[in-house]
Amino acid sequence: MSYSDLIARWKSDPEAFWMEAATGIDWTRPPTRALDDSAAPLYRWFTDGQVNTCYNAVDRHVEAGHGDRVAIIHDSPITHTKHEITYAELQTRVASLAGALAAKGVTKGDRVIIYMPMVPEALEAMLACARLGAIHSVVFGGFAANELAVRVDDCKPKAIIAASCGLEPGRVVHYKPLLDGALEIAEHAPEFCVIFQREQEVAQLTEGRDVDWNAFQYGVTPAPCVPVSGDHPAYILYTSGTTGAPKGVVRATGGHLVALNWTMKNIYDVEPGDVFWAASDVGWVVGHSYICYAPLIHGNTTIVFEGKPVGTPDAGTFWRVIEEHKVRSFFTAPTAIRAVKREDPQGELLKKYDLSNLRALFLAGERADPDTIEWAQEALGVPVIDHWWQTETGYAIAANPLGVEELPVRIGSPSVPMPGYEVDILGEDGHPVETGELGAIAIKLPLPPGTLPTLWNAEDRFRKSYLTTFPGYYETGDAGMKDKDGYLYIMARTDDVINVAGHRLSTGGMEEVLASHPDVAECAVIGVTDALKGQMPVGFLCLNAGCDRDHGEIAKEVVKLVRDQIGPVAAFKLAVVVDRLPKTRSGKILRGTMVKIADGEDFKMPATIDDPAILDEMRSALQSIGYAQ
Ligand code: COA
Ligand code: AMP
Repeated sequence: MSYSDLIARWKSDPEAFWMEAATGIDWTRPPTRALDDSAAPLYRWFTDGQVNTCYNAVDRHVEAGHGDRVAIIHDSPITHTKHEITYAELQTRVASLAGALAAKGVTKGDRVIIYMPMVPEALEAMLACARLGAIHSVVFGGFAANELAVRVDDCKPKAIIAASCGLEPGRVVHYKPLLDGALEIAEHAPEFCVIFQREQEVAQLTEGRDVDWNAFQYGVTPAPCVPVSGDHPAYILYTSGTTGAPKGVVRATGGHLVALNWTMKNIYDVEPGDVFWAASDVGWVVGHSYICYAPLIHGNTTIVFEGKPVGTPDAGTFWRVIEEHKVRSFFTAPTAIRAVKREDPQGELLKKYDLSNLRALFLAGERADPDTIEWAQEALGVPVIDHWWQTETGYAIAANPLGVEELPVRIGSPSVPMPGYEVDILGEDGHPVETGELGAIAIKLPLPPGTLPTLWNAEDRFRKSYLTTFPGYYETGDAGMKDKDGYLYIMARTDDVINVAGHRLSTGGMEEVLASHPDVAECAVIGVTDALKGQMPVGFLCLNAGCDRDHGEIAKEVVKLVRDQIGPVAAFKLAVVVDRLPKTRSGKILRGTMVKIADGEDFKMPATIDDPAILDEMRSALQSIGYAQ
């Protein structure tokens, strides 16, 4: 089948297309229909089906005789350990953990926060929740206590499952004190916390609230899989929105199973039993979909990698893992490849390894720059596939469907829309622009199965954020264009989201933190271009009248404040004091113009600017910290 046949098949009968895809899943009660549009423009999928995610990701493979197949490989160059877990072992471990959670009262619909580093137990915790129909919300370890507290208060978990520590190169991340700190700040208190003690740091348990991961499983009855309806929320994953408050993206069970299972062969071109590796983190959507769920649902072996592209121990780590575990499909963020390329530009380390099992490298999470793609193509000798997606969609909106037809790669483009996604480029008037013109990227409703049906406890915000600007469409928040053959080009965000090392962050959220500093009267944060991380945040501070403190000291204090309030992942290291910020006559800060000055790009003087002289002040401030050269 060709790509155009695939799209034609979907377009001619979307219902039949998705019902056929649904046959790849084992249902306790098969759905009688795919789309439920009774509450349009809110859509649901497979609502009358009954299914369990953990059964599909674990038990069914054991029942089919594949219990000895490796489900998870843990490879940690940081702790110098590697181990494998078969599907049969995974079933025993997950059923036991779910049994212990059930014995403490966790049941269908309860929320459970998971705060864990890259250890297999993180996946086991996710699967144990899925086994019970409990809704997990994984929080990335690079967030500070305050961010964890915000999520606790929003989803009100019955339990929190955390590890004692995470490990960054040269630094132990003290999860338990971060958890304790978060629970001091949060208004909601979970009934109990389960602590997975790692040998690198054993945490002190809080009497009456914390239980030990192993001890609380002692003697419990293993839990069976609880069937849930197709639209039951499988998980909530918080992501950056246009204000400091994160958005709780909801993923519904049935569509998630069907869509992810479909992508494994059709996009990533793997067969059950092949080794699939996504070098991301379980705290991000890539980790949810392609470290945990999709490979397991499809019967693949997944790799949980606790390391970095460079420095653990060197820029050959990725290639070592690919050789050693016979990885067929490898997925990472462009920033990781840029880091490798910077350390090993000639690919000398790469030449030491046998990568003959590798079929393709997939990149997503941020714009893949042509240099990086070309370097990887040359060095690896396999297709380098950029694909575009978001936390909200959970899998690729646009990709090169290798398992269907390998389309010619156009560098700079994540290729073409996948079935289910009718992508239009819209002008300010809401009408499609001409081919090759820049506009807001929007997707015709309904979105396909597996994408977000709503935001947790925030349906109004869901409608306002995504459905209101362009009626009949989902607004992606990305801007870009389409060429004459339908290839998409993703150029920029239309909101305040920036992308730092493939991590999605809100500059508005950082501004809220800067504004809380007692000496700061006004501030702005912009994302400037960075050769390694894609973008880096830079803060501008206007101080209160009469403040005569040292500017360098204040800048240091706000850097610390962001690290303490949002977390190290914000990578906020640069702040500079200025007298005033460039604004329009109506008082809007001209962040876009500031970015252009910082990046040394040409720009048009905004017609509405209040005082053009400020731009020169801006340029000198940026030059003082190494930008706008
Ligand atoms: N727990 C705690 N802290 C974390 C963390 C985690 N899971 N992940 C990252 N951090 C910290 C880092 O230690 C770093 O802290 P520092 O300021 O003390 O150095 C900070 O957050 C920024 O992290 P990051 O921007 O990822 O930089 P890095 O130094 O860890 O890695 C590269 C830099 C160059 C290796 C980066 O390009 C990379 O590959 N990042 C991961 C990309 C990725 O997987 N993205 C996921 C989307 S698919
Ligand atoms: P996240 O929700 O963290 O996955 O971030 C999603 C955002 O990352 C998208 O809205 C884009 O802005 C950006 N993004 C993801 N993949 C790509 C890609 N392949 N090309 C360009 N931008 C991307």
